[in-house]
Amino acid sequence: MPVLDGQSRLPPSADGSSFTSQGATNAAAVILWAKHRKHPYVSSSRILGIESSCDETAAAVVADGSRILSSVVSSQIATHAKYGGVVPELASREHLRAIVPAVRLALEQADTRMEELGAIAVTQGPGLVGSLLVGMTYAKALAFVHRLPLIAVNHIEGHIHAVISQHSSGDPCIEYPALALVVSGGHTHLYEVREGFRYRLLGRTRDDAAGEAFDKVAKLLGFGYPGGPIIDALAPHGDPEAVRFTLAKMKGNALDFSFSGIKTAVLRWVEAHGMSAEITARRELLAAVHRPSVDEWLRVTPRATLDLLASFQATVIEELLKRAAASAEEIGARSLIVSGGVACNSGLRIAAESAALAYPVFFPEPGLSTDNAAMIAAAAFPKFLRGEFADATLKADANLALA
Ligand code: KG4
Ligand code: ZN
Repeated sequence: MPVLDGQSRLPPSADGSSFTSQGATNAAAVILWAKHRKHPYVSSSRILGIESSCDETAAAVVADGSRILSSVVSSQIATHAKYGGVVPELASREHLRAIVPAVRLALEQADTRMEELGAIAVTQGPGLVGSLLVGMTYAKALAFVHRLPLIAVNHIEGHIHAVISQHSSGDPCIEYPALALVVSGGHTHLYEVREGFRYRLLGRTRDDAAGEAFDKVAKLLGFGYPGGPIIDALAPHGDPEAVRFTLAKMKGNALDFSFSGIKTAVLRWVEAHGMSAEITARRELLAAVHRPSVDEWLRVTPRATLDLLASFQATVIEELLKRAAASAEEIGARSLIVSGGVACNSGLRIAAESAALAYPVFFPEPGLSTDNAAMIAAAAFPKFLRGEFADATLKADANLALA
């Protein structure tokens, strides 16, 4: 049974077909929907989750909010890599191509038929609107046809539940109030999480997200996309104290982040050190080899550049942990949850563990750090128990706020 790290991945395609998005339905459709579905006599705790907010098309079946029966992720990295970032139009097309096979595979691997589901959960936002619409439209159609309740999930809440669902029992387990640091390609947010999954936003990035900074620095230096995993793998080969970056000073809310300054500092450093030959060598390597190994990168990356990467990563980690610790202190946190793609970063994990904080720190399993649908199904479970169901008027919301 594929769970956690052993996620199933569908291969990316060379291209996809175009599609037109569906707008909101009218009142008559809502009434029809309400009559049609079979709840509230819900018979199963199995939830099919669907996630398509950015560049992963994902489907998963989760039982009781935490037992992952399947988790399928179709990555679009190969499609976007040559552009050094996600191209929204291409992302929508790839979602359209992958969504049906991803859902089929998730059901098959969970050995679950549609009739055995209790609900369908879908990411409502935040994210790329064209991408969100693909998952949303398909989830609505499936829910309508199979008479299942539909549950709308905020993507950020999904990231938080990727951790909560795996650590709500055992020793140590998450205790509340908890501080959640959600750090990915699109978000760098600090939330207070109270009992009953109530959230309060404490701080957020004012410009780039931390993952975005990793991606932009990697692109600038001729490494591939996404940049986080490459910098993570190369940073241990450099000296984190070699290049001094100044930490961002925030006016106003001291718990906010800013990563545009360090990105510009790296750009200045590159301009000052005449690095064009090595950057060209790395671009050539990337053009010749689909996914270069660490050794292959090391052959085209001089020591000074490794020092730059190590120092950049160390500064970002210091920023993240400094503000997380200050927020945790402010709310009297009893646990720290770190989630989102950047939570994969080994330097961040080591630094959080060695910081000897007064409360336990929880990270997701690696397969649940980056975007996936198991976290969406898990986040839907408390809503499922409360009967918080959406209707056919549900709309994708690119800027959906959690709190
Ligand atoms: O959560 P995610 O899959 O998508 C968003 O919601 O954005 O996060 C993707 C981001 C990318 O920016 C990627 O570079 C970053 O997470 N990332 C990492 C690592 N693995 C992924 N950043 C630092 N270290 C990593 N090991
Ligand atoms: Zn995400």
